Parts: sequence; C-alpha cells; structure tokens
Amino acid sequence: MPSNTAAWLEKVGAIPLDVKSAPYTSPTEHQIVIKSKAVAINPADWAIQVKGNILFPWLAYPYIGGSDVAGEVYEIGSSVTRFKVGDRVIGLALCLSGGSEGAFQEYTVLRDHMTSHIPQGMSYESASAIPLGLSTAASGLFQKGLLGLQLPSISPKPTGKSLLIWGGSTSVGCNAIQLAVGAGYEVITTCSPKNFAYVKTLGASQAFDYNSPTIIPDLISAFAVTKKPLAGALAIAAKAPAKTLDKDPAMACVAVVAASDGANKFVACATFPPAEDELPEGVSAKFCMAGSIKDDEVGPAMFVDFLPKALEEGSFVAAPEAEVFGKGLESIQGAFDVQMKGVSAKKIVVSL
Ligand SMILES: NC(=O)c1ccc[n+]([C@@H]2O[C@H](COP(=O)([O-])OP(=O)(O)OC[C@H]3O[C@@H](n4cnc5c(N)ncnc54)[C@H](OP(=O)(O)O)[C@@H]3O)[C@@H](O)[C@H]2O)c1
Repeated sequence: MPSNTAAWLEKVGAIPLDVKSAPYTSPTEHQIVIKSKAVAINPADWAIQVKGNILFPWLAYPYIGGSDVAGEVYEIGSSVTRFKVGDRVIGLALCLSGGSEGAFQEYTVLRDHMTSHIPQGMSYESASAIPLGLSTAASGLFQKGLLGLQLPSISPKPTGKSLLIWGGSTSVGCNAIQLAVGAGYEVITTCSPKNFAYVKTLGASQAFDYNSPTIIPDLISAFAVTKKPLAGALAIAAKAPAKTLDKDPAMACVAVVAASDGANKFVACATFPPAEDELPEGVSAKFCMAGSIKDDEVGPAMFVDFLPKALEEGSFVAAPEAEVFGKGLESIQGAFDVQMKGVSAKKIVVSL
C-alpha cells in the first residue's frame, strides 16, 4: 500500500490548507484509485474553506476537498471492467462524500461510472478542467426535473429548438455550450465581448454582452429570429449581483423565457435559484447539482457513453483553457486565491 499525502482543511476558516499524510484507501467493487497528476480549482473549493459550515453543514473536518482530477489508474475494484492500471483518466471526485474521494491528494478514489479515459494527446492539466463543469451542466441540461433535454451524441441530430446559456465563458458554461450543441440545440449565450469569439468556437451561434442595458430585449429578439422554440435556460454566473431583473443571471433568464412565445418556461440554475414568489406565473426555476448525476442515468450517459468518444474524436474539447498555477499540493492554496479573485474563460490548475 503506498503512502498518501493530502491538502487538508483542518476546520472552516483554516488557512492555508495543511499538507500532510493521509490514509490510502483501496477501491470497493465499482471504484478505482488514481494517482493524481493534475487538479483544477472551482469556486466551491475556496467557498468551503471560508464558509463550509453554512454551505454544506454535514461536512466532517478535517476535510479533503477538490472535485476535478486527472491522473493514472493505480488500482481497480473487483467489478471494474472499463479501466486497467496505467490508463489515463479524468473523473468527478465526490469530495462531499468523504475524505478518500476528495481530489486534493496523491491517491483519489473515483467511481467507475463517473470516470472517463482521456486521449493520448491531451495533457492531464487540460483534461482536469472538465469534470465539475461538465457534471453541473449535465445536471441542469439533462436531468429529469431540470431541463430534461435530449442527450448529446457525437453525431448530433438537430432538435429544431434553441437554448439560452447565461454565462457561456464560465467553466460550467463552456461545458454546457458543447453538451447542448452536441444534443442538437442552437445555443445563444452571454459573456463579455472579449469572449464572444471563444464561446462561438465551442458552438454557440450568437453571444451577447451580459452587461448591456438592453440584454433582455436583445435576447428575446434573437430567439424570436431563430424561429426555434426555446427549450429553456441554464443560468450560470460566478457572481450574482443584486437581484434586479436585468442583472441577476437567473432572473434575467426568467425574463427571457417568460417573454418568449412557445418557450419551455424553465430555468436551471447553477447558483441559488430565485424564490418561488419572485417568479412570474408559469415560470419555474430549480437548482442543479453536479454530484447528483452520480445517482441517475445522466452520470453514465456523460462519463461512460459520451465523453470518452467525443474527446477522442475531438467533438468535445477541454474548456475553458487551463492555466497552470503551480506544482504540488502546497500550490493549491495559492491557486484558490487566484480563482477567488476572478477568472475569465480560464481554469486554474495545479500539476501534481
Ligand atoms: N451547482 C453546482 O453543482 C455547481 C458546480 C460548479 C459551479 N457552480 C457555480 O456555478 C458558478 C460558475 O462556476 P464556474 O466555476 O463555472 O465559474 P468561473 O469559471 O469561475 O466563472 C468566471 C466567469 O464568470 C463570468 N461571469 C461573471 N459574472 C457574470 C454574469 N453576471 N453573467 C454571466 N457571466 C458572468 C465571467 O465571464 P466574462 O469573463 O466573459 O465576463 C467569467 O468568464 C459559480 O457560482 C459556482 O459556484 C455550481
């Protein structure tokens, strides 16, 4: 059994993370253990450090966080057939489930059905940008009870429908655009003008500036011109400013679906959704949760059926682009600080 090291959060508010030994956990039947090569940083990582007791009151401390990991398969569970030792993979590390499943350690336990092979030419650093963004987007787009859209494939069949993705240059948004286009929807998105060209390379047909004072009427007209019924909206944003109709991402999406003829008047929200009494009659909004796709058909639809083939064929790319902050578990705290200050179409990554 190898020795293991982790970046521990001793308790809420403890800064920096404490890099020290951790138990090595062997996989159960449907799990694998990977030797981590790169981890990516997400807003939840530093948010848990600062206010984990409010966001996730059930978490036990000391705690090993981290959701995005890429690495090499080290050990496989007795029922695992898709992987062998030495394979290059990414997976959604289910850090909210307990210590051995957090990404910020040398050896991480992943679940078979939430893990995908990565192509030879793709670096661990680039690939580590995918799992949480993809899973959050997949929850909002495909889960029943959320948008419930058609699943993606590498030969998409056009649905004749359109979709609003608010926050296309976020990490979740870059994955959402690609998944929705792969599922046959025309995507119109919002981001800063400097990212218009980038989100179009991911498949968005049009991009609008979310800071424009006319953003809502502009989006309503753009969807009307497509003549493709709006299948709903996915609202994502790193920061939710004051809840005014034209600024809060979820409320802005609510306004667009409410005013669009023939729309599915539903907004999936990556951040907290508006309260029921803030919604116009006939419009619903619901929170999507990345980790929840491990419990239904959407998890395997992504990590088993779609992603490995789509990455291999190049119809899905690792996005946003990785920016490597440093090397080693000791660099994770500094990487939190960079992510917290704000990023634009970038994933902050640490090589291990
Ligand atoms: N529910 C879940 O399971 C789950 C999982 C992961 C993330 N999240 C949440 O989802 C949100 C996004 O996370 P992330 O990691 O994807 O974020 P991120 O990549 O750190 O977000 C950075 C991006 O936010 C964009 N942005 C900032 N304010 C915006 C606004 N008002 N409207 C549209 N875009 C805006 C910026 O776009 P420009 O640079 O183009 O201006 C920038 O590219 C966060 O609130 C996070 O906590 C939820």
